Amino acid sequence: MDSVVDVVMSLRCGQSAEETARSILQRPSVFVDGLDKAPAEMAEASHSRRQRAASLRRLSSNQHYAPTISIPSPPTPAEDCAYPPLSSATSSEKKCEAGPSRPSAPAVVPRRPVLSRRRTSKKEYVHPYLSGNFAPVTTECPLTDCLFEGTIPDEFAGSQYVRNGGNPLANSDLDRDAHWFDADGMLAGVLFRRTPQGTIQPCFLNRFILTDLLLSTPEHSRLPYLPSIATLVNPHTSIFWLLCEIVRTFVLAMLTWLPGLGLDAHQKLKRISVANTSVFWHDGKAMAGCESGPPMRIMLPGLETAGWYTGEEEEDKGVDEKVDKSSGRDQSKGFGGGPPIVSMLREFTTAHPKIDPRTQELLLYHMCFESPYLRISVIPPSRSKRSHLPTHAKTIKGKPVRGLKQPKMMHDFGATSTQTVIIDVPLSLDMLNLVRGKPILHYDPSQPTRFGVLPRYEPEQVRWFESAEACCVYHTANSWDDDGKFASSETPTRGVNMLGCRLNSATLVYSAGNLLPPSHVLPPPNCPEKCQLYYWRFDLENADTNTISHEFALSDVPFEFPTINEDYSMQQARYVYGTSMRDGTFDAGLGKAAKIDALVKVDAETLIRKGKAMWSQGKLKAGESVDTRTVEEVLSAQRDGSAAEDDAIKIFEMPRGWYAQETTFVPRQRRRESSEPQQEDDGWLVCYVFDEATGLHPSTGEVLPGASSELWIVDAKHMTQVVCRVKLPQRVPYGLHGTLFTEEQIASQKPIDPSQVRSWASSINLADPFSSSALGSSVYSASGKAATSKFKDGKETYAAFVRDPIRIGAWWIKRNIELLIA
Ligand SMILES: [Fe+2]
Repeated sequence: MDSVVDVVMSLRCGQSAEETARSILQRPSVFVDGLDKAPAEMAEASHSRRQRAASLRRLSSNQHYAPTISIPSPPTPAEDCAYPPLSSATSSEKKCEAGPSRPSAPAVVPRRPVLSRRRTSKKEYVHPYLSGNFAPVTTECPLTDCLFEGTIPDEFAGSQYVRNGGNPLANSDLDRDAHWFDADGMLAGVLFRRTPQGTIQPCFLNRFILTDLLLSTPEHSRLPYLPSIATLVNPHTSIFWLLCEIVRTFVLAMLTWLPGLGLDAHQKLKRISVANTSVFWHDGKAMAGCESGPPMRIMLPGLETAGWYTGEEEEDKGVDEKVDKSSGRDQSKGFGGGPPIVSMLREFTTAHPKIDPRTQELLLYHMCFESPYLRISVIPPSRSKRSHLPTHAKTIKGKPVRGLKQPKMMHDFGATSTQTVIIDVPLSLDMLNLVRGKPILHYDPSQPTRFGVLPRYEPEQVRWFESAEACCVYHTANSWDDDGKFASSETPTRGVNMLGCRLNSATLVYSAGNLLPPSHVLPPPNCPEKCQLYYWRFDLENADTNTISHEFALSDVPFEFPTINEDYSMQQARYVYGTSMRDGTFDAGLGKAAKIDALVKVDAETLIRKGKAMWSQGKLKAGESVDTRTVEEVLSAQRDGSAAEDDAIKIFEMPRGWYAQETTFVPRQRRRESSEPQQEDDGWLVCYVFDEATGLHPSTGEVLPGASSELWIVDAKHMTQVVCRVKLPQRVPYGLHGTLFTEEQIASQKPIDPSQVRSWASSINLADPFSSSALGSSVYSASGKAATSKFKDGKETYAAFVRDPIRIGAWWIKRNIELLIA
């Protein structure tokens, strides 16, 4: 942990990022033993869910050290292969023994079956996204060396894999309205540290992202500050109840702004984002994204929270840049502008920005509740890195895109090297829906899904294309102009191609909130729920008509969380990787959460070529699939050896009971001495995995004490081998999106002002003189400072009141208001 702190402190003190990273990454190796003991230390009180939310415990850094285990032969997954727990055993034969299968995952618990405000017993109904390995962790683990098996590829040396996800801090009321996308952001990272001996040592840490909301939330709060998405989407939520929730949020937010109570800037609730969705890199900055606010900057490898990024760059101020002035807004003010609340609402930014691999521009869109409801930004890299920018490139911040009739909930978009593709799904997020007798978040399948295609710097030239049927598209995989490679900016492209994950219903929005979806959001009659890798081509050649020339599914295999070799982003990549499941699809119906037990590699180029030929012959229509095999059929062919070596679909099957999360593709670096051309799929997939068969109680489905996750590195070329397994010191709940930050990126981080770094010490919990739980104080103590702001008894409280009656009195009033409504 010291090394992490040192990185930040060194950067703050003006030491160059490269020197800092080198000094940290080359420190003497320390090895962790006692991972067998660690679970006892880190045992979560998962069997007692109230205790789980009651305390946030910091792991003890007083651990014993011993050499790591290195096993050269990676395990080979097979049907019902039962991976043994990591131990000191070094025999690779033990890793995939044939034999009786372990118990399958515990039976799922029933979902709340009503769409009403009726309170149900938490013993009777458990939220599927707050139980099992979806349940939040209550510990922040400092940078801790990990045991591992297999070989860590050289490409990982010095890099750090970081994954974001929701982890609610206020979680004691498990019967509350809750949604998978609600919770406070928590980062889980594995740093592949270089050792002086020339080896690579994986180290794990996890940290909350210290947003305004998190630092403002009182430790005694049973509920999060903001209304849940489940509340917004539930058609049975009454206007009265919703107004109560909004007033409660408003009062709690105003309390954080009370003057004279010792609050610092971080505690004031200025932005409402929980920053829980994604992580990405742009121009010397690692950032966490969430569409309810601007990105939050984080520092690597310590994962400290370093403040909001609103598009403002100090180094750009006063420079005569080519900025777009047609929007009439002050470009120096970033994404927002206007009065404080309006500016805050204008800063809502996609959690899935696109970074042009050639120009290093950052492309963003911003949803807003005021007309025209959608704006885009294009942020170039630092001036020293602009040699690849086209001559007509502009800096754009918050330029409007016309064509939306109401605010929408969008989650991703597409970007080629010249065009941007906006996805307008019929999922509105509009307060005026209440007047129309609909929930604020409402899916209307009678409205078409539309795609807005616009030149990167000219959003006023947007052209809208209507799809054949309503659908939801939460993630795109890749987009490219018609010539397949990076298009010339001087030659307009004839068409734009896009691959994305298309759901034929909106049930996931309801299922993730533990709600039964209303009938109108279900797929058409006699049509099963589908989530497929889908291809669209938008014809730009004919200026008079906006036609989608092709729209079909590549495969019937359920497919979500797409990833590609990012070197091929914005050109036609051949391969797309994603996650899938043996049974069901990502709608997560039948009262269970969506859990991933298969990783998929799709030869998209081949299937698109085949699909276009079928399309031209009339053998393929909108909505139909080029490859109609199921997961089981693909797996059967793989198991019996009948699958073709160049099969367009390859599936890595998780062992029974094991579940994965989103993967990130890490390309193999081309060796200088090698004469072989670089292959697009030569690399690895990295992801967190969890063994539910050993980690969950067989009947309750609750996490067992000591359960922990692993990080797996899977061979992405053949999709058959785990080349390395890293045993983590604690569990990583199923989360959302991650990425691998390279050693070069970590070393080249832009320095930050020390005052920007947030800490628990600035939390309202620690400033609370009446605080008595271990939530804040344990973290505070672990950071080396004593928690001295508590009173032992009434006498001390009275004495403090006599000394400082205004502050203590104000705190007493504030705290009781919070206790009343929080
Ligand atoms: Fe996402």
